[in-house]
Amino acid sequence: MTKGNGHPIVIERARPLAVHQAKEIQPYGTVARLPIALDAAVCAASIDNLNQLLADTMTVRDLYKKHHWQVGGPTFYQLHLLFDKHFNEQSELVDSIAERIQSLGGVSLAMSHDVAETTLIPRPPRGREEVPVQLSRLLHAHEIILKEARTMARQAAEAGDDGTNDLLVSDVIRTNEMQVWFVGEHVVSTPVLGHE
Ligand SMILES: [Fe+2]
Repeated sequence: MTKGNGHPIVIERARPLAVHQAKEIQPYGTVARLPIALDAAVCAASIDNLNQLLADTMTVRDLYKKHHWQVGGPTFYQLHLLFDKHFNEQSELVDSIAERIQSLGGVSLAMSHDVAETTLIPRPPRGREEVPVQLSRLLHAHEIILKEARTMARQAAEAGDDGTNDLLVSDVIRTNEMQVWFVGEHVVSTPVLGHE
């Protein structure tokens, strides 16, 4: 594989392209028009809302995985399983929201750095927390998402963006409400005996 003079024979044509510095094809915050019969202004408003919701959904998704790993105590196993189930359901929502943003002609947030800068959900500590603290942290996160998702759903309906409205109502709101029920029932104080 040398020319005889000790130098290697290098074939440039077969070298893989490794371009990291190329210009973006679409900057964040812009709208690429698609033939979906929606005004650019309507698309832009939905994209903005959905990116906020995406950051918050990615955060609650990761909060579930954190708690799945770090949970302790007598209810360890059931919560370990429940937290992972909710993590998976939130992961599906993340994909649906991000792809809705792209299908409106927007650019979805993707990386954790950007998510951390955008989310409205308070940052938890790195360390392990007690179960009641984990649960109330999750309930608070769900409430932030539900509040914004309902407002966004109304805005989308009024603007005629029925697809976004449907995603928000049928998937995001219903899934979060269901998860609040399952998490919330763990912190209802039920007496061990049914006496007054
Ligand atoms: Fe696991």
